[in-house]
Amino acid sequence: MARKDEQRARELRAQIEYHNERYYGDDAPEVSDAEFDELMRELITLEADHPEIVTPDSPTQRPGAASGSTFAAVEHLVPMLSLDNAFSRDELEAWGQRVLRILASDPAYVTEPKMDGLAMSLLYEDGRYVRGATRGDGRVGENVTENVRTIHDVPARLRGKRVPRRLEVRGEVYMQMSVFESLNVAQAEAGRPAYVNPRNAAAGSLRQKDAAITASRELSLFCYQLGVVEGGPDLQTHRETLAWLEELGFKVNPLIKSFGALGEVFDQCSWLQEHRHSLGYEIDGCVIKVDDLGQRAELGFTSKAPRWAIAYKFPPEERTTLLRDIQVSIGRTGRATPFAMLEPVFVGGVTVTTATLHNQDEVARKDVRPGDTVIVRRAGDVIPEVTGAVPSKRPKKSKPWVFPSDCPVCGQPLVRAEGAANHHCVNPDCPAKQWQKIIHFASRGAMDIEGMGEERVAQFVDAGLIVDAADLYSLTTERIEELPRLGARSAQLLIDAIHGSRTRPLWRVLVAFGVPHVGPTAAQALARTFRSIDRIVAATDDELVAVDGVGRIIAESVHAWFAEPRNAAFVEKLRDGGVALESPAGVDDAPTLEPTLAGQTFVLTGTLERRTREEAAAEIEARGGKVASSVSKKTSYVVAGDKAGSKLAKAEELGVNVLDEAAFEALLETGGGSSS
Ligand code: IVH
Repeated sequence: MARKDEQRARELRAQIEYHNERYYGDDAPEVSDAEFDELMRELITLEADHPEIVTPDSPTQRPGAASGSTFAAVEHLVPMLSLDNAFSRDELEAWGQRVLRILASDPAYVTEPKMDGLAMSLLYEDGRYVRGATRGDGRVGENVTENVRTIHDVPARLRGKRVPRRLEVRGEVYMQMSVFESLNVAQAEAGRPAYVNPRNAAAGSLRQKDAAITASRELSLFCYQLGVVEGGPDLQTHRETLAWLEELGFKVNPLIKSFGALGEVFDQCSWLQEHRHSLGYEIDGCVIKVDDLGQRAELGFTSKAPRWAIAYKFPPEERTTLLRDIQVSIGRTGRATPFAMLEPVFVGGVTVTTATLHNQDEVARKDVRPGDTVIVRRAGDVIPEVTGAVPSKRPKKSKPWVFPSDCPVCGQPLVRAEGAANHHCVNPDCPAKQWQKIIHFASRGAMDIEGMGEERVAQFVDAGLIVDAADLYSLTTERIEELPRLGARSAQLLIDAIHGSRTRPLWRVLVAFGVPHVGPTAAQALARTFRSIDRIVAATDDELVAVDGVGRIIAESVHAWFAEPRNAAFVEKLRDGGVALESPAGVDDAPTLEPTLAGQTFVLTGTLERRTREEAAAEIEARGGKVASSVSKKTSYVVAGDKAGSKLAKAEELGVNVLDEAAFEALLETGGGSSS
């Protein structure tokens, strides 16, 4: 640590204190607000680089600075609504017609790039920044005041002659593309996972316990809306509002434009769509707003969105890239899934390097071959997809890809059963299956062993420390702390996490076994009724079927699984390892799941491999989601299994998110972070 830095930090603290006193105490500031902000930022950055020089009385450590792992709830003064979407020119025009029907005269429109970031509310009192809050559910958000304070585009104090008593401004926090790219380089160097897109990176950077980390992430903010205003000027139009916000020191997107007719508005949408990749930040559409505030008042709101604005969403994005190779991965059940290894390409807001090709027939249908230039498509939250090859760019001697005859991991033959869509590795000892089972066992939806992810499992298997998940329970800190990328501390945390999983509720243990067709809903029903693994094993088929939510298929699957000697041995090994195989008296085995899918509508189509459609529907409903039978614009997700037909086509046509089974499982586990 250079003495120089410590010295500089001391100077900065003294200067900040001094100017604070002039500003708040004497009401006679000696420096501009920008200069003051600059001092504060330099100090934050310096302290971030050298945590050892932080002093308890540093201005960066004032009460209110974010601490603890969660942020306090903030009720918005006025709800933060969302916007209705238009997915085509027709829908945009239909909105224009609705507007015209209500208004007495033709409105003028303002168009704004739809920033793909996080909505933010900033509160100012007597010109001072006092609070920053995320949108949350629109009514209640999170208090991120201290983190937001570090953002360059957020003035600490308002400027100009028209500073209101109270002001709530809304805008979008985002991360510039260049910042995102260098952040990911740094993440990789530090051995940390890359962020998938700038929006997640912005969200992750904002939700730091330590505001200094947020400061180091260089977030940006554009303002586009007023919330509560007390003592502000009399504004007639949105353009006047934006001009006033600029005067106060906020950043307003320079690409905001005004138009007199909706036809021109559509041209601007097309222009933005065409230039979206050269803006330096991610946008996912164009927001169109009625300019006149009086007309806005006439139009009013629906329960969820203003009638005076609409978001024109860009259609799914397509890019071309090189298909380097097609490889086959082996899942927990032995299913062999071909996937595309791609030259990395940024599409639909994420860098795509691999994409599933589902199965043999899909590869044949798309006729994609290693060496091809392929089209990669991704819309919103949807899993990226290779849609086909560019014929003119196909190398001359290329031949259709042939499904490998043998498992890439164990070398045993891959089998495609009569009438089935998928190949399977049927070798029960295949190491790939084995380690996928361990990953599943430890995953969040099962035993939830923190830190035991894919890489860690691979590392332990490679080091010969574990062969199956039950071996986790005989690991000791001494045995693992010498491994690369694991110090004494992480080793201890991991052992503690493994130990903690010994007393997981019975339903989690059942899920962790990976019995085909037994997801959390069936597992909870079984656990609630039988309260121990032994009683489940001893139950007859009829007794199992008598349980609400358990059908023949599940009952047979359960019995078949426990009858398999290696599975029975695995269960005994877990028992010896101290894993609880029964529910303690008084424990409720039917935890209500978090309503993570509330408000989302699903349509199920095609054949899923690990669950029937009824089971999938039960899992969605258990989390507060709805299942519908036909696809419309209101559909949140279409879950497409094998042989999905017209519903999938319809979803693609409407730009509705499509999930394959793996993505669906991920959504069930995490609840998904829905995009704006
Ligand atoms: S205006 C009453 N303007 O889009 C609605 N929103 O889908 C006020 N967004 O939550 C929002 N760019 O996070 C508005 N120029 C823009 C925007 C924008 C991005 C986001 C915002 C909002 C979401 C609604």
